[in-house]
Amino acid sequence: MSFKEKLILDKIPRHIAIIMDGNGRWAAQFGNERTFGHEHGVESVRSVVEGAGEIGVKYLTLYAFSTENWGRPVEEVNALMSLLVQAISNETDELMKSNVRMQVIGDVKSLPEHVQEKLNWSINKLQNNTGLTLVLALSYSSKWEITEAIRQIAADCKSGIVDPANINSELIDSYMNTSGMPDPELLIRTSGECRVSNFLLWQIAYTELYFTPKLWPDFRKEDLFEAIFDYQHRERRFGKTSQQVVS
Ligand code: FPP
Repeated sequence: MSFKEKLILDKIPRHIAIIMDGNGRWAAQFGNERTFGHEHGVESVRSVVEGAGEIGVKYLTLYAFSTENWGRPVEEVNALMSLLVQAISNETDELMKSNVRMQVIGDVKSLPEHVQEKLNWSINKLQNNTGLTLVLALSYSSKWEITEAIRQIAADCKSGIVDPANINSELIDSYMNTSGMPDPELLIRTSGECRVSNFLLWQIAYTELYFTPKLWPDFRKEDLFEAIFDYQHRERRFGKTSQQVVS
């Protein structure tokens, strides 16, 4: 029986976040350049987006390019940007057929203009879809996002739009790039690294973490279903006792 068949259908996470890691190591296994790993990583993205849509996940957030990734060799950064544009060009029709919407979180303005244009083209095309929302984290880091939110809240306090006495968790949520999305119930990281690497730090306060040794280019929808199966058999207590949760 496949993991997909074993899933409890009324317990599918609404929001899954993935740190796609291990492309470079995957390429090195074959004596290839890191970019070769990123290219194959796109096939994993396709499979996972398809799988998430099939089982009714509402949001899938992929860490595609971090603020820190700008520090990689310029050839690799350029290759990643080209790959992104190419993937969006090639996949938007299929995303349309699958009723997928797209959204971006991160410092979009820091991306090359042609990348921004391609992203906007795809986002606009897919905007009326009602199925899965694919959220691409690009030039994203959580500390950047939180800093920007604090800056904006401070500005709104100064201009009288926000009363400091009214700052609470919900208000902070509304200043995040993820405003309007549920927090992820499940965060997956591939390649055996057990870190969260500046990803959605505010949003993952109660998220279940799942680490797999699989390298990203080897990850497929069946691996996603396995991660969800694992998640479904955990007890989420949110600070309460086991008895309170069960009763
Ligand atoms: C991490 O592997 C992966 C990345 C920094 C980039 C992920 C990008 C893609 C899969 C392609 C484009 C994405 C979309 C959404 C179309 P790594 O390079 O850090 O690998 P390593 O840890 O083995 O060096």
